[in-house]
Parts: sequence; C-alpha cells; structure tokens
Amino acid sequence: MSIRFASSFVVALVLSLTACSPDASMTTTSPDGALTIGVELQDGRPHYHVEAGGESLVAPSPLGFELEGGPPLRDGFEVVKTAQRTVDTSWTPVWGTQDAVRNHFSERTIRLQETDGRERQLDLVLRAYNDGVAFRYRWPEQANLDTLRIASEDTQFRLTADHTAWWIPDDYDNYEWVYRETPLSAIRDSAAAISYNSYLEEVDGGAPDTSEKEAAPGTVNPPLTLRSPGQERYLALHEAALTDYSSMTLRADPKTATTLHTNLVPWPDGVKVKARVPHETPWRVVQVADRPGGLIESHILQNLNEPSKIEDPSWIEPMTYVGIWWGMHIDKYTWDQSGTHGATTERTKRYMDFAAEHDIDGVLVEGWNEGWSTWLSGDSFSFTESYPDFDLQEVVEYGREKGVALVGHHETGGDIPAYERQLDDAFALYDSVGVPAIKTGYAGPIRPEGVHHHGQQMVNHYRRVVKKAAEHDIVLDVHEPVMGTGIERTWPNMMTREGVRGMEYNAWAEPNPPSHTVTLPFTRMLAGPLDYTPGVFNLTPEETMPDHRVLTTLSKQLANMVVLYSPVQMAADLVENYEGEAAVEFIERVPADWAESHVLDARIGEYISIARRVAEGEAWYIGTTTDEKARTVEIPLDVLEDGRTYVAHIFEDTPDTDYRDAPHAYRIRRGLVTASDTIEASLARSGGQAAILEPATAADEENHAALK
Ligand code: NOJ
Ligand code: CA
Repeated sequence: MSIRFASSFVVALVLSLTACSPDASMTTTSPDGALTIGVELQDGRPHYHVEAGGESLVAPSPLGFELEGGPPLRDGFEVVKTAQRTVDTSWTPVWGTQDAVRNHFSERTIRLQETDGRERQLDLVLRAYNDGVAFRYRWPEQANLDTLRIASEDTQFRLTADHTAWWIPDDYDNYEWVYRETPLSAIRDSAAAISYNSYLEEVDGGAPDTSEKEAAPGTVNPPLTLRSPGQERYLALHEAALTDYSSMTLRADPKTATTLHTNLVPWPDGVKVKARVPHETPWRVVQVADRPGGLIESHILQNLNEPSKIEDPSWIEPMTYVGIWWGMHIDKYTWDQSGTHGATTERTKRYMDFAAEHDIDGVLVEGWNEGWSTWLSGDSFSFTESYPDFDLQEVVEYGREKGVALVGHHETGGDIPAYERQLDDAFALYDSVGVPAIKTGYAGPIRPEGVHHHGQQMVNHYRRVVKKAAEHDIVLDVHEPVMGTGIERTWPNMMTREGVRGMEYNAWAEPNPPSHTVTLPFTRMLAGPLDYTPGVFNLTPEETMPDHRVLTTLSKQLANMVVLYSPVQMAADLVENYEGEAAVEFIERVPADWAESHVLDARIGEYISIARRVAEGEAWYIGTTTDEKARTVEIPLDVLEDGRTYVAHIFEDTPDTDYRDAPHAYRIRRGLVTASDTIEASLARSGGQAAILEPATAADEENHAALK
C-alpha cells in the first residue's frame, strides 16, 4: 500500500486574448494536430463539429437551451470575443492507474451574445486533447440573466457513421444493466437490440430473466462506446466534472438514427437544472482512440476536472478488503436479526483475523446498525446505533491491533432526508472510533418521491457527502451512485463506486454473462474506478438457486482484480472459501494502486489483457480474461525492464477448466522470464489468467528454471 501526494506544476502556459470579428478562428486543435473541435453560427444558432485527421466525426450539431419562464437561449447570437490558450501540465494523482498524468490541451473560449436587445451572454469553452475533445457552456456574470431554470439542454451529437455501439439504456435511477452491442442506429428502436435474455438462451441455455425491467426505448446512459465501421477508430461519449447540474443521458433522434440528443435527468417538477448565474455545465466529452485499449489508458475525464481540494491527502490510502457481505447476498446470513445475523462482533473478528493473516487491509461490515428489518418503509435506519450483537468500538480496536481497518457502511435505502438529518452524527461516530472508509448505498427509490438518483438534487447530495467525509478524513465507496465523471481528481477521497451490474446479481438474479467483464473495461470503467467486487472462489454456492451462480472460472476472478480497476478493491467471497486455497496467494499480493497501466491486447466484449506495474523497479501484474469462447492470448513481456530477470507466478485455467463444468480447476505455474519472452494465456471458456512478474532475487534464480 502506498501513499502518494498530489502535486502539480505548470510546464507551459500560453494565453492570447483576441477581441475579434465573427469570422476569426472558432476552432482549437489537439497538441498532436490530429483532433479539431470548432463552432460555427448557422443563422445565429451555434453548432459545434469535431474532426479527426481531416475526417468528420461529429457533423455540425446544434447547441443551446430551452429555459423555463423565458425565451430559449440558442438563437440570434453573434460572437463578441474569443480567447485561445494552450496548457501543458502534469499532476500526481493521490492514487490511480498511473503515477503521473500529463494534462496537455489547447482551449478556445467563444463568447456569444444575443443581438435581439436581450443581449444575454453564453460562453462556449472548447478543448482539444490528443485523446479526445470536450466542450462546456458557461454563463458569465451578466446584467440580463441571473437565474437559470433549464427546461432542456439541446446539445446534439450528429455522428457521421453507423458505428458499433456498446450501451446501456437510460434509467434515471440505475446503471445496473448488462451492456448491449448493436449498431448505433439500432438504439433508436431498442426493441431491435439483442436483449440480455435472448443472449443467454442462445449462448448459454439460461432461463429467461424476469428480474429485468423495461427501459425507455431509444435511450442511452453514457459512457457510450463506439467503434467505427472500418474498426480504425474507437470513440466514447460521456461527461466530465458533473457539479451542481443533472446527469446527461442520450436519446436517439427519431429520424436520423446516428444522431443523439442530450436529455437531462429532471427534478420532480420537470425542470432539469436550477442555478444562479454565473454557472457552467459539465464538459461534454468525445474520447477518441485508435485501439480499444486507448480508451482505457486515457485520463481525459480527470484532466477536465479541477485539481485536488484536499491539501494534505496523506490519510487517503488505497486498500483491499473482504467483508460480511456475500453471505447476505447468497442467503447464508441476514442483514437484520430475523435469521443468522451476519454482522456480529464475533464474525467480524474472524474476518479481521483472516485479513491480518492474508495482508488484506480492511473488513466491510453490512447490517451492523438498527433499521434493516423495515428499511424500505422510510426513516428506518439509525447510523449511530449498533445491533446488540455488534460492538463497534470493540471490533475497531481489535482490528487496529492487527493492522486491519473496519470499512463502515451507510445504507440509506434512498431516504435522503433521514440520512442528511443524521449525517453529522453518522460521520462523527465513525471518525471518533477510527473508521477510515465507508461504503454508502442508495438501494431503493429516492425520497422525497420523484427525485432521481441521477438528477441535480442527488448530484449535490452525493457531493455533500464526499465533502463531509473529507472533513473527517474518511474515504468513500458509493453504491447506487451517480456515474463517475472524473471528480476523484478534485476529491480523491471519492475512491470508488458501483454504478454497474456487479457480482451481487450472480447471487440472486440472472447471472452476468461471460462477456460482461470483458465489456465493462471499455464502457463503465471509462467513467472511473468500479466496485464490481470480484474474487469469488466458490462459483456455485449451494445456498443459492441452481441458476444463480457465477459464470466464470476461478482464474478469471483473480484476473478481474487486475482488469477491473478499483483503489478500494474487494475480494468478495466468504473467508472460509479462501482458507486452504492456494490461489489466495494472488489476493494477498495484488495491490489496489498502480504506477503504470497498459492494455496489451483486447477486443471489446471478447477478451482483454492489461498489465499494471506496482512501482518503479517493482512487480508487474497482468490480468487476461475472455468471454464464453476459449482462446489463447500471446502476451509478449516487453513491458519488463530489459536485461533483468523476473520470476513469474501464474494463476490460470487448466486444460480441463470450463466455466460450466469445471470452473474451480486452476493451476499455479512459476518460472523465470525476461522482457524477450512471451507468456501464453490459454483461457478456458469464460476463463482467465492472473500473472505476477517480480524482479527475481538470487534465491529465485537458484530455485526456479525458465518458465514452461
Ligand atoms: C446494494 C449494494 O450494491 C450492495 O452491495 C449492498 O449489499 C446492498 N445494497 C445492501 O446495502
Ligand atoms: Ca447495487
């Protein structure tokens, strides 16, 4: 575990201001010259466009707003001035997939003003990076506009090709869907999309799923990932720096199937955003890469966010954790006291013993507090009163002696008024006993009625909680969150979040299909760390129904701890399922923080191989996973230091492993390798390989032969 301090320095800053006529340059181009974003006025209405290498990616697409109680803010504009600057800085994340991030972009700000006598002003800020472009609207302080009630944001994305799209539907409260792969044009009529049920029936003979609800047709919740028809370009549409605004969802245009409209999540009264001027929108982002891995390696979302507001982040530490959690999902334990209560003092100590023995940093305890038997009825949870068989002080002290942290839990059930009423006391309690991390949850409809998880009110609530946690030196893992938009750069205590159809579904719903975790890195993970909770060893727990099981091999579970990035990373199984199992060595050793990451090879939804380095001169970890097809992936080891010998520890499927028939079979192979070697990952159906490559000691060189 390492603590890194955020710092940033400006390498170069060029700023030029030009009061100009409307025909002055209205574009900005990426430092490498490849990507351009520009704005033009068509009859006084602003349109933006995006080109890559001279080819149009987004055709001129309208911008603007409809406002409640006033005329729209979208036509009759003229350009009053523009400003251009180039920034080249580098910053050090407190934690992350990379220990230094370069922030290199050119930016143009265009001030528009209405010519009709109202003279309201709107700035458009355009940015071009080498890995994508972005724009945002900004309302400067002005005489004729002081409040905003946005009825709709009319930003469009007029894409120029019928790309292959990976997407989930727009649901104002939930991102826990299986991603679909369809032509972009099929989103418009999502009934035509390959449904999850038919997929399972076709590929896996699975039973039809009745747990999935209908989503609004023709809608998407970003990030939306696209591959161009010639497969030479990969795009992702998303937003960055979502602050005091509502989330952006996308709606397919009824006429032009490759055009998407912005649709903001509403307040209960239908208004989308309520604000005072000056104000600004989040960035609308088009990520661009020439290979699928390029989307994952990009830091554009974080770069579009403000630097850290936490001056001394020395208390923020990445961690791995186990927890009293899976036991409730597979019906072995209960959250409340009606059955075998999971969160007892005794069981927590047992989990802490296990964590201490296996170098795991924390233990999550769900169901420790009063209120679980009535949790969806409102005003149910106490965030300060423990159940009688759970002694908070005692377990925290027990853990402290062993170097294991308690990961606290606040399930709100969506009851925001009740949680906010208790927020100060809830954080003060955990702070006073010494809990460094809290998992929060918003499972259930938000109260008051009509408020959505992804609307402006909740965006502001989630941020209030992040700030409250920072006041107490506490880090967060948020379940049922709003999608990540890179704010972890500004608030590095906002470490991980769910917002994904995670492991829990395998316990009680139609299981996640084998392609799920080879799709997530290119979709949900572009929005930031995800608390998927991998690491289950017993893939067919007898407590669950026969159809409710985990559709992977054990080695794929290990590999997912590298592939699915989370700085607060769970090993999700019951500790008794780890005990005596040799593969637990990988969980003991895998870190949750990285100095360098590269996607070595991948096809979206089919397979992925990611290499991550722990620190300068230290070990590399490589996770390689596949969908329902068995395959062999060749992994050249040229990421290793030249001329150095490494010892490889490889946890992998055997020739007999199969996610249906023999998911638990794995083997461990060890041997010496160098940068000129290639590892073969022979993956079973829905299989994986997890490799550790560490600089060899003299003893290693003596004890091991070349890897076979
Ligand atoms: C949903 C969360 O995703 C899950 O991890 C948690 O166990 C339950 N809510 C109960 O809080
Ligand atoms: Ca959930």
